[in-house]
Amino acid sequence: MDYTQAKAKLAAIGQEHILRYYDELSEEQQDNLLRQIDETDFSVLNRIGCGASDERGAFSPLAAMQRNEIEARRQELEQVGTAAIKAGKTAALLLAGGMGTRLGSDNPKGMYDVGVTKPVYIFERIVSNLLDVVRQTDTWIRLFVMTSEKNNDATVRFFREHAYFGYRADRVVFFKQDMAPACDFSGKLYMDAKDHISTSPNGNAGWYSSMVRAGLDRILVDEGIEWINIFAVDNVLQRICDPCFIGATILADAAVGAKVVRKAAPDEKVGVMCLEDGRPSIVEYYELSEEMMNAKDENGDPAYNYGVILNYLFRTNELSKVTDDKMPLHVVRKKIPYIDENGVLIKPDEPNGFKFEQLVLDMIHQLSSCLPFEVIRDKEFAPIKNPTGVDSVESARVLLQKNGVAL
Ligand code: UTP
Repeated sequence: MDYTQAKAKLAAIGQEHILRYYDELSEEQQDNLLRQIDETDFSVLNRIGCGASDERGAFSPLAAMQRNEIEARRQELEQVGTAAIKAGKTAALLLAGGMGTRLGSDNPKGMYDVGVTKPVYIFERIVSNLLDVVRQTDTWIRLFVMTSEKNNDATVRFFREHAYFGYRADRVVFFKQDMAPACDFSGKLYMDAKDHISTSPNGNAGWYSSMVRAGLDRILVDEGIEWINIFAVDNVLQRICDPCFIGATILADAAVGAKVVRKAAPDEKVGVMCLEDGRPSIVEYYELSEEMMNAKDENGDPAYNYGVILNYLFRTNELSKVTDDKMPLHVVRKKIPYIDENGVLIKPDEPNGFKFEQLVLDMIHQLSSCLPFEVIRDKEFAPIKNPTGVDSVESARVLLQKNGVAL
């Protein structure tokens, strides 16, 4: 794309200010900017003001496999899961493309040190949890790590510097997720350098399309991987490729399994698993009607009682059914670094604009069936979103220590 074409593309959407510094740039910088303008899909800007998702369908309960059933069937479930792992049919995929803005560190979130008397990095905890299963099954599970343009180099370097935290390097594959442009509240695109439009990762549902674009779906086919466990970087307690969970999802013949925790109280502010128009979905706490809040299952327990923890097991041959254009685009208020009129980079303390994301939850809604699988909150859920308070470094430290992890 040349300058005239770029100018026309931007003029059509009222964003010509992107070329404001063009004449000051070196030839290489000019090329970079023109390439970015050419490659960026600006249609996301049309979503502003449209609401996160359109009309919701009819909700009904989706029963979870609960602890009592899991314990009664543990041996059978573990056997099936272990056999699948040993046969090389399962892989793990770490979602590490997020910006972790709430935590407030400039480094990738996984580099955060949660240790007290010694360094204990988030990535180290995650790999250590997966290594438990490697030892248990005597199998090196394929590990994909999704990063973004913003944090890829630092992430890869950190893994190398720490010898992959004991993992086998040739079983780890990094790939970058796609980016989306970011804008202010009036829809005007931000720039974070004179030759670069501000961008942010396109949401955690970006993993599948980005993986395909990187050609990595070949690995799934070539290695006969039938199940892929997707998980968030920030839950330092979660079990990854848990044989019992894998066995339960296989035996339930579900397209996807979801680890869930029992709600702490009926009005707890978490999204819960349910069916929406007969397909798996999540109902947000503010969408729960009085009637749904009081609904009971056959045991007299609340019928909408299980919150998701961003740990899912997808059957790989179902993934081609998930198409980007059927997924809603969420418009999210975020802190977006930008250059001011003097070209100085500003890092705002408060949200100053919108970014655009597709969420993994919406992928699940495109699939035919889901098994919610209950895990014990205090043993498997210690998310680190904030430095202090709820879901923080502090709360995760308490839970790690409670579970015998030396900090
Ligand atoms: P969060 O929703 O907590 O977002 O991500 P975040 O960007 O990490 O953090 P904040 O909101 O800016 O503080 C949940 C999981 O999804 C991954 C994150 O890395 C984390 O594991 N994620 C999120 C991606 O991989 N890509 C994205 O575009 C967004």
